[in-house]
Amino acid sequence: MGGLNRASRSALGPLQCGRVQQIGALLLVVLTFFVTRIVDRAFSPSAPSSTSYSSHLHSALDERHRDPFAGGGLAWPDRAYGSRLSLKIYVYDDREIDGLRELMRGRDGTISPDSCVKGQWGTQVKIHQFLLQSKFRTMNKEEADLFFVPTYVKCVRMNGGLNDKEINQTFVKVLSQMPYFRLSGGRDHIFVFPSGAGAHLFRSWPVFLNRSIILTPEGDRTDKRDTSAFNTWKDIIIPGNVDDGVTAFHSSAVVQPIPLSKRKYLANFLGRAQGKTGRLQLVELAKQYPDKLESPELKLSGPNKLGRIDYFHHLRNAKFCLAPRGESSWTLRFYEAFFMECVPVILSDQVELPFQNIIDYSRISIKWPSTRIGIELLEYLQSIPYEAIEEMLANGRRVRCLWVYASETEPCSAMGAILWELQRKVRRFHQSTETFWLHNGSIVNRQLEAFQKWRTPVQLP
Ligand SMILES: *[C@@H]1O[C@H](CO)[C@@H](O)[C@H](O)[C@H]1NC(C)=O
Ligand SMILES: *[C@@H]1O[C@H](CO)[C@@H](O)[C@H](O)[C@H]1NC(C)=O
Ligand SMILES: *[C@@H]1O[C@H](CO)[C@@H](O)[C@H](O)[C@H]1NC(C)=O
Repeated sequence: MGGLNRASRSALGPLQCGRVQQIGALLLVVLTFFVTRIVDRAFSPSAPSSTSYSSHLHSALDERHRDPFAGGGLAWPDRAYGSRLSLKIYVYDDREIDGLRELMRGRDGTISPDSCVKGQWGTQVKIHQFLLQSKFRTMNKEEADLFFVPTYVKCVRMNGGLNDKEINQTFVKVLSQMPYFRLSGGRDHIFVFPSGAGAHLFRSWPVFLNRSIILTPEGDRTDKRDTSAFNTWKDIIIPGNVDDGVTAFHSSAVVQPIPLSKRKYLANFLGRAQGKTGRLQLVELAKQYPDKLESPELKLSGPNKLGRIDYFHHLRNAKFCLAPRGESSWTLRFYEAFFMECVPVILSDQVELPFQNIIDYSRISIKWPSTRIGIELLEYLQSIPYEAIEEMLANGRRVRCLWVYASETEPCSAMGAILWELQRKVRRFHQSTETFWLHNGSIVNRQLEAFQKWRTPVQLP
């Protein structure tokens, strides 16, 4: 009785509970009150009472009493989310849905997740892998709040594993085998699109995924398409995947930041021009003011190819790291800057930034109009007092753990923050144009067939 069970789970939540639960709840409240009082007294008289997860975060992000962010937006998660996660996420298995394996490993099944996990688009694999180990994972679709559909299509497409047409068809085939997708119209289904193309990788996304939760670093794709696949009210912006070698903390990182006073340049731009106006202007500017702005030509191959380590050595040698728009509005350089400890300067007007409900970006970065790239920008950056730069860098050190794809058991990570964002998407009830419900809570389709009798392929969208 899948549909019925789902629908009949306490429709009104806390309002509908028996006597025993009420007494139990009261006891719990009293007990929690006393325990938190004791804990507060024992450890830190000024710390707010909170669950263990949030107190971890407080200690990771607050750096105790004099947190410069305290008034400005980083008292996390209490300020933004409340202090408890209660989530059940079902992760689809490639053996359960015909076609899902192709979307992960290509038509021949030869593309390995190990190769897809590397580079700036590695989030498509990492998020999947972390969810498989998550304590919020459920094996039971009936009780799931959310459903994760693992696909690595960015990687598969780049490696010739599927072409655009095949990706589109396979996606549609996969969705038609998911009655729960049909039940909610896709509203509780999660997809990762890790690159600038966003959900456009699936050509017919506007028909099929326009209600689903899309995790993407990209908020805009106006360069090549008329429509943006990103919707700020339902989708979640995620950080790009920064090289594990530099996110490893302190002594184990392959490249360490250097003191501000030792930086050779005021600013740098490390990227290829790609024929983009803003980038071309920066390359020109660097030629005019070579002692202030460094912009080495980045060769992707040949003897002058800039290696991974060299790249970071350049990046750390300026006070400000310029992050102009490229093929799309987001750029990995913005996130990398926090690990080389240069202040990122965003020159990409349409950019969307992750976790805005907890991070005040004006405390850790600068956004300058991309239409004003020139000596004016360099003069402005030069006018910023040393202490102000130091403070921004210090603030950046506190939040950069949110760019690191580490296990949710870490006190602070991108994965933890994404789970908190997902928490806000949980809905008690689901509907779509093809779902109906009766007086007794039975969920049926247009043929009045009860939900548990729905047979795949289900009709889409
Ligand atoms: C995607 O595939 C579906 C199902 O095969 C098809 O109806 C649709 O036209 C395709 N979309 C595009 C843009 O090719
Ligand atoms: C989603 O796609 C359906 C089918 O094409 C369309 O009718 C609907 O208007 C779209 N919804 C949104 C929010 O774009
Ligand atoms: C709910 O009502 C419908 C219509 O009377 C009936 O067919 C169905 O079996 C009922 N469901 C349950 C779970 O009782």
